[in-house]
Amino acid sequence: MDQPIGVIDSGVGGLTVASELMRQLPKEQLIYLGDTLRCPYGPRPKEEVIQYTLEMVDFLMKKNIKLLVIACNTATAFTLDLLREKLTIPVIGVIQPGARAAIKTTQNMKIGVIGTEGTITSKAYPDALHSIHSDINVYDLACPRFVPMVEKGVLTGEEAYRVVEESLQPLKSEKIIDTLILGCTHYPLLKDTIQSVMGEEVTVISSGEETAREVSAILGYQALLYEGERATKHVFYTTGSSEVFAHIAKQWLDIPIATVETAYLIST
Ligand code: DGL
Repeated sequence: MDQPIGVIDSGVGGLTVASELMRQLPKEQLIYLGDTLRCPYGPRPKEEVIQYTLEMVDFLMKKNIKLLVIACNTATAFTLDLLREKLTIPVIGVIQPGARAAIKTTQNMKIGVIGTEGTITSKAYPDALHSIHSDINVYDLACPRFVPMVEKGVLTGEEAYRVVEESLQPLKSEKIIDTLILGCTHYPLLKDTIQSVMGEEVTVISSGEETAREVSAILGYQALLYEGERATKHVFYTTGSSEVFAHIAKQWLDIPIATVETAYLIST
């Protein structure tokens, strides 16, 4: 079906999910909206995250999207159920796919989850994990220092290692998890550092890959896949600076972005 897939995030972090969608579904067109102006969502109250997310969704619904991906973990934690009730198109969040991937991986049923304060206090990951398997032990931890560090472009090296090691100490000292879910869009960019801090015996899961697989399955199942031939042209919107957005996308993920347009939402 010749309609785009909408992807929303609090900023540029959701490009980690978008790049996986592009890899797995190369024929599909994406319309990505990042609320960079109001990023981060992680420390904001639930009501604010809901309001901002609904504004993004209104914007994308006017672009005639056929499926919505909430690439932001914090927004997924607070709005997935609400949006599934409100919209008639399929809505995919990043939490359920990440939880599923972790359950497929764990051998000892002890899974760690790291995310923003909002995501961790919402308990969305433990709920998702327990809804699949009630015997899973979940060790969750907010890592509020990671997003600002990634935004500064510090992904590897001494400073990154120190911050990651200090933050993950509570999970490391228990030494029992065998699987760790990166429950935040920004954390895949720290994956190498997180892996070296946690050690090879812990499998690190980023939900982007599994989310893209779910999108692909749902599009196939509902006969919504685009089956024609065309040069795929993705469209990117930000509520903040277009130059900064394009620069970070290129630097972080090597996604070539020709133009980034400004989105004006109700309260921006
Ligand atoms: N996108 C957010 C998430 O995945 C991280 C950045 C933020 O706090 O807005 O939770």
